[in-house]
Amino acid sequence: MSKKIIGFSKLSKKEKVEWICSNYLDDSKEDIEILDKYLNTNVNIQSIHDTFSENTLTNFYLPFSIAPNFLINNNDYCIPMVIEESSVVAAASNSAKFWYDRGGFVAKTVNTEKIGQIHFLFKGDFQKINSFVNENKTKLIDSTSSISLKMKERGGGINSISLIDKSSEYNNYFQLSISFNTIDSMGANYINSCLEIITKKMIEEIESSNDLSEQEKDINIIMSILSNSTPNCIVEARAECKIDEIGNINGLSCNEFAEKYFHAVEISKIDTGRAVTNNKGIMNGIDSVLIATGNDFRAVEASVHSYACKDGKYKGLSECSIDNDIFSIKLKLPIAIGTVGGIIDLHPLVKLSNKILGKPNSSSLMEIVAVAGLAQNFGAIKSLITTGIQKGHMKMHLINLLKKYNASEDQINNGIDFFKEKEINNKAVQDFLKSN
Ligand code: MEV
Repeated sequence: MSKKIIGFSKLSKKEKVEWICSNYLDDSKEDIEILDKYLNTNVNIQSIHDTFSENTLTNFYLPFSIAPNFLINNNDYCIPMVIEESSVVAAASNSAKFWYDRGGFVAKTVNTEKIGQIHFLFKGDFQKINSFVNENKTKLIDSTSSISLKMKERGGGINSISLIDKSSEYNNYFQLSISFNTIDSMGANYINSCLEIITKKMIEEIESSNDLSEQEKDINIIMSILSNSTPNCIVEARAECKIDEIGNINGLSCNEFAEKYFHAVEISKIDTGRAVTNNKGIMNGIDSVLIATGNDFRAVEASVHSYACKDGKYKGLSECSIDNDIFSIKLKLPIAIGTVGGIIDLHPLVKLSNKILGKPNSSSLMEIVAVAGLAQNFGAIKSLITTGIQKGHMKMHLINLLKKYNASEDQINNGIDFFKEKEINNKAVQDFLKSN
């Protein structure tokens, strides 16, 4: 029997829960209880969360953690991270501590441009549409003045508009590419609103133009939307020390460590399989700070991975160099984010994250986020070229497995001891619990 429902969004939360339970959960009381348990008992907090998305039944928690001991541009930071994967916060904290005693991280925002695009089909003379755009640029920009006022007061707004001829790649396809500076907001809403206003103004001006023929006036606007490709919204983070300051790491001398680390990074430049994994590790650090600070991590992921292909091949984004006995690591990538707007001004934990970070502006947050990505990459490679990644992972995994089989607090502590040098898997953990 069909389970199609019309008007689900109109049901109250209670009705939605009842509907889902009777149609998909066999009316299970336990399942309703789970949904109930994750609701916040503070009605104000619950109502904030209910408005973030549609059709909400309850909340979905992720751990909110802190990675301490980050020294960035000579300032101390504790970085809030929201992530479910074990070892990420431990690795970030470890790297932060390592670099704290070696000068810390240096980070710099290179540029902050964001782009909006109006995609359209035009059948006619390129010179004519080009002249039309050039002659009407100011009018198009001014058409957004009512929503640009505040942005302009803060030093932002529209930088420029240019016409891009894409017709050699797709018949009659042209694009208005609009460059924005959105200051401390990620700017998606502002950019998309501007684009829709400019599109309307452009159609009006085309209709009243004396220079375009009737056929040329018949332009077909396909869509107007910001681009999540942000190759000119770039931040750099780096850390460096003398090779002998590295010390011995898990059985490797400082020289062996530096050299092996260098090879690991070079491999991510030539092998796509490794490049993707290397960058995934970087994104472990980046995404978790983005979530904690209320930013759109999907947008940054999309932008970062396209940036990783900028040389025509997907490559690892981090760098390592060894010059004159200096070991240096670096990360340069696009991070288009904000510190105002959207859930940033609403979510109590996001507000708290920004407070812990000293209320950064968007440039400073870009730098903090890039450092978290670099620290994560350093932590991952450090483990990979020495002990291997499983040692750290498995300890957390062991605790999760013990909990899965309902271990008591004592059994967990004894289990951590027992499995120190042993292989950890489902069966081994179940056997341990039977006899302990
Ligand atoms: C796991 O989530 C991330 C790593 O695989 C990253 C890496 O290999 O660089 C450890």
